[in-house]
Amino acid sequence: AKLDHVSEESIRLLVDSFYERVRRDPILAPIFLRAIPGDWQPHLTKMYAFWSSVMLTTGRYKGNPVVKHLAIPDMQPSLFERWLALFNETCDELFDAGSSEAFRGKAVRIAESLKLALFYRPDR
Ligand code: HEM
Repeated sequence: AKLDHVSEESIRLLVDSFYERVRRDPILAPIFLRAIPGDWQPHLTKMYAFWSSVMLTTGRYKGNPVVKHLAIPDMQPSLFERWLALFNETCDELFDAGSSEAFRGKAVRIAESLKLALFYRPDR
């Protein structure tokens, strides 16, 4: 049966499963594995807090995703499509339609604002 509500526990399942996919993905894996060559648990734990803040408004995440992503070599706008495709697949696999759509809607908007912050340069 699919998960029917968003909770800290279901967020952990989603994050673990999503980054399993990322690590197996031929396009995204090299970028992620260069940035996180060792233990993935600190990243996963941070992402539990991030999605908890986004979906449950717990304020558990403190950080600056724009600065972090600016520091990643080989970021390209097209990678966001790949990221979102994997995220959507993971959400649909684990959650019922309503919860999946709630995650996906947030992810699309955050991806859009990250992309603008990273790639929109008014002086070029
Ligand atoms: C962190 C890659 C899109 C949210 C990271 C890190 C990598 C990465 C490699 C680890 C950085 C580090 O610890 O040094 C990417 C790539 C993306 C992408 C390649 C797509 C092209 C997104 C999207 C979201 C997101 C769409 C949100 C919906 C985060 C957050 C962190 C993070 C919250 C933790 C930042 C911190 O350390 O506080 N990302 N990311 N990322 N990513 Fe992404």
